[in-house]
Amino acid sequence: MQAFRAALLQFADDGAAIYEPDGLLVVGPDATGRQVIRAAGAHAALAGNYPGVQVTAFPGRILAPGFIDLHVHFPQTDVIGSPAEGLLPWLAEYTFPQEARFAEHAHAVGMADVFLDELRRNGVTTALTFCTSHPHSVDALLEESERRGLRMIAGKVLQDRHSPDGVRDETEQSLVDTEALIRRWHGRGRLGYAITPRFAPSCTDRQLRGAGELAARYPDVWIQSHVAENRDEIRWVRELYPNARSYLSVYGEFGLLRERAIYAHCIHIDDADRALLRDTGAAAAVSPTSNLFLGSGFFDYEGARRVGFRHGLASDVGGGTSFSPFHTMLAAYCVAREGQTKPGVSLRPQNLWWQHTAGAAQALGLDGVIGNLRPGCEADFIALDPQATPLLARKTQHARDLDELLFSMIVLGDDRVVQQVFVGGRA
Ligand code: GUN
Ligand code: ZN
Repeated sequence: MQAFRAALLQFADDGAAIYEPDGLLVVGPDATGRQVIRAAGAHAALAGNYPGVQVTAFPGRILAPGFIDLHVHFPQTDVIGSPAEGLLPWLAEYTFPQEARFAEHAHAVGMADVFLDELRRNGVTTALTFCTSHPHSVDALLEESERRGLRMIAGKVLQDRHSPDGVRDETEQSLVDTEALIRRWHGRGRLGYAITPRFAPSCTDRQLRGAGELAARYPDVWIQSHVAENRDEIRWVRELYPNARSYLSVYGEFGLLRERAIYAHCIHIDDADRALLRDTGAAAAVSPTSNLFLGSGFFDYEGARRVGFRHGLASDVGGGTSFSPFHTMLAAYCVAREGQTKPGVSLRPQNLWWQHTAGAAQALGLDGVIGNLRPGCEADFIALDPQATPLLARKTQHARDLDELLFSMIVLGDDRVVQQVFVGGRA
């Protein structure tokens, strides 16, 4: 066992933050040998219970759960900052050519390293990530994730139509490959697999049906896709599925809406769609920097709260502009605040933080496993320096309450705030 003394940030079941200015975090093995949080609370209350346990002190630091990125594309790391006239031209001009490079195995291996280094630098300890349509892109990422001890979830992209040579896959083979990858990776150590239809326009009915059949056969595998991001995309789906009630309902018809199904964007949806998300247990991966960069629109937080479906935050790199959860939380605040095209709401900083940790874990069906510092959670946590920059130090020194402290870090923070990252209890 080992223990860490610092301020602690964790979350109650209702999503409220619990802050302990002088805390003790005790880490040790559970019955199966996993390194988990054994205790977290006030130093004064806990210290006497652990005589002989070595305590590492982090004066002036805050220990917080590692961030969870609910939707990201590891092969798009080099696509960040590629401007285009919206989603569909951006896919054609930048994204598909970059993803085609992953046909070369060595390129995929090299980019897996770069991507996982970026996650670590930014304090992200779990991601639900797209790979490319090449099955070995999954192997490259998950082999390196396994070496690093990360809880990572990934999937081979399915796209057997409306996709150029180099990324388009073949229907039957894509389903055979997906099942082989599920068997190879899902539940191996901390790794998980996600069935990954790119989006309805890029998949034939046969491919979507096959994806749904696999989802039924492997109910604890994840599903990830995109929905209702962009108006041109939605128009296209309406042409392809003229009888569908909505874009989201297309996925439902193929058995792709259920718990552990995570849909990026969910911007242009109505209350019937929101109820469909709520009632199926599917979740939205809100991707605000991507939505602003590609000019897609604004996620409606008022609608999400009113109807009540699962949601959490995501970078969506490379449509997204940053791996930093601080940048994503700030963009989510601004997107929620926007009140000209939808109701504007002011999200509390603790809610923004929850959406990137315990709330994201809940969306993944991993609450109590990751995203928090409650006893029993896996020991993925980060040490934050609230004085990492001169301006941040001025702001956080004068913070009058927890919301002011968190908001200062959200607005002014980036990877400089993340001082150390612990994965499975190891720095
Ligand atoms: N829709 C289909 N593919 C993609 C992608 O790679 N990124 C985003 N943001 N939307 C998509
Ligand atoms: Zn995406």
